[in-house]
Amino acid sequence: MKRTYLLCMMLCAIALVSKAQTAVLNVDASREGVTISPTLYGLFYEEINHAGEGGLYAELIQNRSFEDEARPIRNRRFGENGEGERFGRRPLPGLIPAWVSANSEGAASKMEITTTNLLNKVQQKALKWSTAEAPAAIANTGFWGIESVKGDTYTLTFWARADKNYKGTLRVGLQSKDSAVWYAEATVKGKIGKTWKKYTVTFTPKANADYARFAMAADMPGTLYLDMVSLFPPTYKDRVNGCRKDLAEMLEALHPKFVRFPGGCFVEGMSKESAYEWKRTVGPLEERPGHYNANWHYPVTDGMGYHEYLQLAEDLGAEPLYVVNVGIWHGGFEPYDQIDEYIQNALDAIEYANGDKNTKYGRMRIANGHPEPFNMKYIEIGNENYQPNPREQSDHYAERYIQFYNAIKARYPEMQVIGNVESWGTDYPSWRNEYPVDLLDEHYYRSPSWFAGKYHHYDNYDRKGPKIYVGEYAVTSNCGEGNLKAALGEAIYMMGMENNSDIVAMCSYAPVFVNIHDKTWMPDMIRFDAAHSWGSPSYYVQRLFAENVGTTMVASEVKQTRRPKSSKFSVGFGSWNTEVEYKDVKLTIGNSPLVIAPDLNIKKGKWQVKDGVISQSTQTTECVAICPEVFDATSYDLTLKARKQAGDEGFLIIFDYFDEDNYKWLNLGGWGNTQHGIETTMAASKSTTITAAGTIEKDRWYDIRIEVRDEQIRAFVDGQLVHDITITTPDMLYANAMVDKETGELVVKVVNFDDVMIPLQMNIKGADIVSSTVALLTSESGKDENTFAEPEKVVPTSTECNLTFKESLYMTPANSLTVWRMKVKK
Ligand code: AHR
Repeated sequence: MKRTYLLCMMLCAIALVSKAQTAVLNVDASREGVTISPTLYGLFYEEINHAGEGGLYAELIQNRSFEDEARPIRNRRFGENGEGERFGRRPLPGLIPAWVSANSEGAASKMEITTTNLLNKVQQKALKWSTAEAPAAIANTGFWGIESVKGDTYTLTFWARADKNYKGTLRVGLQSKDSAVWYAEATVKGKIGKTWKKYTVTFTPKANADYARFAMAADMPGTLYLDMVSLFPPTYKDRVNGCRKDLAEMLEALHPKFVRFPGGCFVEGMSKESAYEWKRTVGPLEERPGHYNANWHYPVTDGMGYHEYLQLAEDLGAEPLYVVNVGIWHGGFEPYDQIDEYIQNALDAIEYANGDKNTKYGRMRIANGHPEPFNMKYIEIGNENYQPNPREQSDHYAERYIQFYNAIKARYPEMQVIGNVESWGTDYPSWRNEYPVDLLDEHYYRSPSWFAGKYHHYDNYDRKGPKIYVGEYAVTSNCGEGNLKAALGEAIYMMGMENNSDIVAMCSYAPVFVNIHDKTWMPDMIRFDAAHSWGSPSYYVQRLFAENVGTTMVASEVKQTRRPKSSKFSVGFGSWNTEVEYKDVKLTIGNSPLVIAPDLNIKKGKWQVKDGVISQSTQTTECVAICPEVFDATSYDLTLKARKQAGDEGFLIIFDYFDEDNYKWLNLGGWGNTQHGIETTMAASKSTTITAAGTIEKDRWYDIRIEVRDEQIRAFVDGQLVHDITITTPDMLYANAMVDKETGELVVKVVNFDDVMIPLQMNIKGADIVSSTVALLTSESGKDENTFAEPEKVVPTSTECNLTFKESLYMTPANSLTVWRMKVKK
């Protein structure tokens, strides 16, 4: 209600705002541009951060087949009996991750791993559970808890045998963490004999609990053997061995047109053994060996296997896009002329997805419960395997690629084959060979400003070249754990992709999921634990764009005045993982040199002023101290001496400091003491403005001078000019427009990337607007995030707006994305 009111006010009012920064948006709906790719927005799903295991894959039991090894990792808490904490490479003997002896029934349970008389050849271990007295119980702590939902039906399956025929009864269900309360329980029907047998039991909780655990209690002493203990809640689309509902529904709300899977680095692995091999991931669960996800440090059951990925894509109404391993893993590879096995695996994977009953793998798919083909059309040859440096997982990529391409096209000419390009180290990745390719997969992990600056990135791409698939992109720096500013940077970049959707055919944000107990890679757009899930601001940008994608771009242009440079400024000092000293700081405005009082407003770091020397003595990132004096000028010289005492880098000299969200720094010896650069922070978003090779030595005083002449900046080190650059304020307002020919609507998107409101004059011609709705994503600060405590701090609000504005003034809120959807008279 409050937001609705505000929004209408913004539209109608000719408010009193600074005339300094204004913008005009002209839209002509009658001038059509490119057709928007119908597959533009999709998903990149990777098994990372427990995205699947303990996440989207609805299995609730951790270490269900007792194969896992307890592994410690630096900086991680090691839990009771290793529960849930199995990271790191070196296994710890003697612990059975996630399984504990529960004290609810009084008597003690003894749990051991056995490696004899196993369920089948694939299973390497089973649990031996002995009780000398009864009743006694064991419990599984799930993936950092198991949610108990009152009224839901949970399905338990497990395999068991006994030393002697077991005469007692097993009670199973969900228990409170302290074993005091059974939220759900049932008894296992049928006696447990000497040979392995599968048991299935269902139960329904009588109470809700966020972090319960699974328990099994025996009412008579004995020795039982257990394997493949599996528990599922109701799943998305009621699939057996399916997906967690809330998480899958969050994916569904993104209307994905394709799903790229299963990675990412997960495809590559860290060795031949830990690389993804689809054939190990299909068929009965107890016959899947699982493998160690070495890239992201946890074991996977592969219960969410190749078939389940295809099924998920189908259930989401999306095209599957499978990424194959090209015989390269992190740290090693097969010789490029000995990769037939990998090519055959790719061909077999296509046959599994698309083959009929007359094919070996088509038959296998049918036996696994999917009679119709999945009609897979996209296959990607490798993940990030075409860096210029062959040692970066890129040995002979082109030679590998063409072998896959030829083999695939010979048998499946309709398949769209996707090639790798450089995934890091350049903003302009390229296909550096003559081989045919349908799409190229670009990856960008950068800062909010980088994305905001790339609105025009695709404007000049060669239209005769292959189509572009931006398979992984996300703001990953200067963004907390994923804030609104990051999402807005991505939104501007996405508008650029829409504008160029004739060449950019597909894109997918990365990564999708993080279990908050395993934040290996942040940010991610969907966060969750055992009982909660919520979206980041980026999630909502993805959703708003996918909901409002339209069919055809129409002409739009933004004219804006730039935010003028403030004449008020301070100066300051900083360091990054380095201990430094500064002295003789002088500021000259006109002809009057001022000695800067060594007085500091400390933001971070251990700063001290002694005998006129300012020192910072910790080796942590982003140590900053600002001089409190505020000056008034747009031209000045700042001179000082600086000495490095220890650490990784050099000096940070802060100038044009307006506030903590708007300033510049000269970064000498930055980027691991390899570059001298100038970085600009504007509207809380930092970007690298210029760099040149340069290092800083220890234990010597350097003379540094920064000359500021309005927008022109010159920096000198020991009298040598290192930078001479004009830094203009970037555009802060971005927009585009499109029509949806199916619904007869006009969609206009506007992003204000600035920290201040920008008045926007909107002029729309070529369409008779009948009514409109507007969705607004904003918050008090660009730094706002959605957290466990405040999961909905930054979410969009939608409003009916019966305005038929052809010309109107919109007070574009600071840090906002606005999407107008207008019904147009035919
Ligand atoms: O998305 C996370 C990782 O980033 C992916 O595994 C990889 O492809 C990229 O380096």
